[in-house]
Amino acid sequence: MKRSKRIEILDQRPVNLDGYINEWPEMGFVAMKSPYDPAPSIRIRDGKVVELDGKVREEFDFIDQFIADYAIRIDRAEKSMSVSSLDIARMIVDIHVSRKEILELVSGITPAKMAEVINHLNVVELMMGMQKMRARKTPGNQAHITNLKDDPVQIAADAAEGALRGFAEEETTMGVARYAPLSSMALLIGSQIGRPGVLTQCSAEEATELELGIRGLTTYAETLSVYGTEKVFIDGDDTPYSKAFLNSAYASRGLKVRFTSGSGSEVLMGSSEKKSMLYLECRCLYATKGAGSQGVQNGSVSCIGVPGAVPGGIREVIGENLVAALLGLECASSNDQSFSNSDMRRTARTMLQFLPGTDFIFSGYAAEPNYDNMFAGSNFDAEDFDDYTVLQRDMQVDGGLRPVTEEEVIRVRNKAAKAVQAVFRQLGLSPISDEQVEAVTYAHGSKDTLSRDVTADLMAAEDVLKRGITGVDVVKALAQTGYKDVAESVLNMLKQRVVGDYMQTSAILDKEFHVLSGVNTPNDYMGPGTGYRVDGERWEEIKRIPHIIDPQDI
Ligand code: 5AD
Ligand code: CA
Repeated sequence: MKRSKRIEILDQRPVNLDGYINEWPEMGFVAMKSPYDPAPSIRIRDGKVVELDGKVREEFDFIDQFIADYAIRIDRAEKSMSVSSLDIARMIVDIHVSRKEILELVSGITPAKMAEVINHLNVVELMMGMQKMRARKTPGNQAHITNLKDDPVQIAADAAEGALRGFAEEETTMGVARYAPLSSMALLIGSQIGRPGVLTQCSAEEATELELGIRGLTTYAETLSVYGTEKVFIDGDDTPYSKAFLNSAYASRGLKVRFTSGSGSEVLMGSSEKKSMLYLECRCLYATKGAGSQGVQNGSVSCIGVPGAVPGGIREVIGENLVAALLGLECASSNDQSFSNSDMRRTARTMLQFLPGTDFIFSGYAAEPNYDNMFAGSNFDAEDFDDYTVLQRDMQVDGGLRPVTEEEVIRVRNKAAKAVQAVFRQLGLSPISDEQVEAVTYAHGSKDTLSRDVTADLMAAEDVLKRGITGVDVVKALAQTGYKDVAESVLNMLKQRVVGDYMQTSAILDKEFHVLSGVNTPNDYMGPGTGYRVDGERWEEIKRIPHIIDPQDI
């Protein structure tokens, strides 16, 4: 066939490198509505749910049972279920119906009903819903802080720069898992140098992650994964009960925790029970709520290629984010894993959370180059910082970040690298040379840094665990080496664990360590003139991008 040059050019566009598949409900490739999804129903006898979404109690799997016993307000169920899904959908976008009223109404509906409600909303209505239902009044953002070498010096510098740029939470993970204690320590120190009050976590194997948290080397946990079918849950050696127990273990030591779930995981793990991604994710979110978690990281997360490949899949992603908010959960709304070769597609996908604002628009913006992202690459990377701050300015939208100057970046990177050098020396861990500090200060990524002695680092990491080094030891080492201000910040992070206020829904800390949460600063959006508005000092800050003509200078 003689080729059309027009089509040839189009065929070569990045968007055509992405994978697409038609709906195939039998294998779970269906975004929002499968012919096999159950119809909503509930029956209550003697204060107990005896039927849920078409199944009687005797037929329940452990997810059904957990949801029936812990995630639905039985006292409200009959009343809530009698309101039509279309009416609930309309109330969600009605500016005269408050967030509080919606939360109360929705607390009595079942997962299948929830999926039906979401199906009535188009993307703009889903965004309107999120604008009203997000828990915290101000939106926030979270960063990935990782690198290919697991270099703790770079982690500290990138964490400092990320905190300076406005991220309220920063998470790390490793190429070599045994690095975790050093990664956590570097992240903790670096974050406080960029901006006091930033929360940090280290995504690791569950027992290690819990131990690092208990020792005060991290200040929150996020990747407690739940799944929407029993088979997949068991494949992960877990149940909703074991996750609830793990949640309590963190909570008992005053640590902020959120769960993780998202569409596509059941498809990838080969057991979707022919259900839609949205319905399965509703089950995950009800299990999360039932386990008593204050929030969730969801929006497909690491499985984004799956919803990204089916019709309406990206609409489903904001849909499942909204379900989290409707259940009163904090929502860290993904935008983390890269899913498209097309810059247009990856930007458009992010606008669905960026424009309404979520508790954390990205639950992992790569604050390093893409090649250094050990979470397998993010939708936005360090190279996109200026695009992002310009988008905030263009639309007068608060995406949680701020423009910075080169001088500030160099200053905080250098201070963080030096502080980690001092702490490692003081604690007798692996040495950090002045040349390493210098390279990391000015580096874009790990291609610009010196290599570390991995054997020495891993021995030091083991030593941290063996010697029982805690956050308090880090505070002491900082204080003893002249970093009194940083010592105070880290100590303040540890104090939060005793106070406990930052375990409230959607809590972050400002630079004075005041909690901003869905409880003390709740989202009160009810249409124009209400809710969070970008104005005053924050708007001035957003306007101050680097490359700009100032009329005063002309
Ligand atoms: N469902 C459940 N857990 C997920 N994670 C990422 N995506 C999902 C999902 N769709 C969790 C996993 C992973 C970490 C980065 O986040 O635990 O290891
Ligand atoms: Ca995350």
